[in-house]
Amino acid sequence: MNKSTIYWGDVNKYLHDVIANLDCEQIFLLVDENTQRHCLPHLDLREFHVIKIPSGEAHKNIETCQAIWANLLDKKATRKALLINLGGGVIGDMGAFCAASFKRGIYFINIPTTLLAMVDASIGGKTGVDFMNQKNMIGLFVNPIATIIDPIFLQTLPTRHIQSGKAEMLKHGLIYNLQHFQHIQLEGIPDLDQIKESVRIKKYFVEADPFDRNLRQSLNFGHTIGHAIESTALSKDEDLLHGEAVGKGMMVELKLSTLYGGLDKKEADGYIDKLTEFFGETKYSEQDLKEWIEWASNDKKNESNQLSFSLLNQGGKVENNIKLSLKDILQIL
Ligand SMILES: NC(=O)c1ccc[n+]([C@@H]2O[C@H](COP(=O)([O-])OP(=O)(O)OC[C@H]3O[C@@H](n4cnc5c(N)ncnc54)[C@H](O)[C@@H]3O)[C@@H](O)[C@H]2O)c1
Ligand SMILES: [Zn+2]
Repeated sequence: MNKSTIYWGDVNKYLHDVIANLDCEQIFLLVDENTQRHCLPHLDLREFHVIKIPSGEAHKNIETCQAIWANLLDKKATRKALLINLGGGVIGDMGAFCAASFKRGIYFINIPTTLLAMVDASIGGKTGVDFMNQKNMIGLFVNPIATIIDPIFLQTLPTRHIQSGKAEMLKHGLIYNLQHFQHIQLEGIPDLDQIKESVRIKKYFVEADPFDRNLRQSLNFGHTIGHAIESTALSKDEDLLHGEAVGKGMMVELKLSTLYGGLDKKEADGYIDKLTEFFGETKYSEQDLKEWIEWASNDKKNESNQLSFSLLNQGGKVENNIKLSLKDILQIL
């Protein structure tokens, strides 16, 4: 996969530096109504076209891609056009996919404006859109030429989205650095050092396994169940954020870790207590688990009717590719 550089802070300085070193012919800026209102005013850019799409996961689909491609075509974007994705994970994933496929690939830069996009979605080259109620079904691996992470954008981000981003940070702590997990506070915005530590952990796994064949799967902790919860919610038009689903997914997978990963039960309960403070209690019946598992078995990561999990052996240590059947999973009840 192509290499990408991360720049920290001072969005305008780095944006100008990167553009100055690029032979780009036009600049397009992908925003939604929220990032247009709150984030665009921070940018000091001249001569660019705005492409605006409606916000939210419900619009992360091929129809919105068509609107983006149509806009690029309409404004006569050449192969040397630059697309700047200014937004959260939805804009980042979809903008990158559109840029990488338009005329077989134009330049793109990601400027993540949510905590989740900063610590997770903007790192690692996974791009794409949802399809037929399945998360991220269509997409490709590709990196932006640059990612600029400036916490200035977090000042306007609603608290619920800050908490959603913290889910991924808590996950980074649980799989790799327990101190990081312990340092994440319920209140407030994480500081730059904490954001950097999460990015460092994500990059560690991504660089060890760019195409997600083995070690990178550690980052899936909480996500087998989390994605299933998220897909179920998506299909019912329920309002649930990615991080909220992952927070709940981690609580279920911590239970599974005690049964199938060797994680100490008391230790797991301590982590579940902390996650409960952030994401509320996760209650589930046999019916809920069955429904989630049904969704998860359609997930592209699974080859047979057994589901593959990344579970904790202990805090900071994860084991991948643990295969469980529905019967195994129901044991947590
Ligand atoms: N590619 C990856 O590796 C990866 C990893 C994790 C998540 N994701 C994807 O990321 C998406 C979730 O990302 P998200 O949580 O950032 O959601 P999002 O992109 O929907 O953004 C959340 C909300 O915040 C608004 N917003 C964004 N920045 C703002 C700001 N600075 N001030 C005020 N409002 C702002 C947006 O308009 C939106 O309403 C999911 O689609 C998920 O699949 C991808
Ligand atoms: Zn995630």
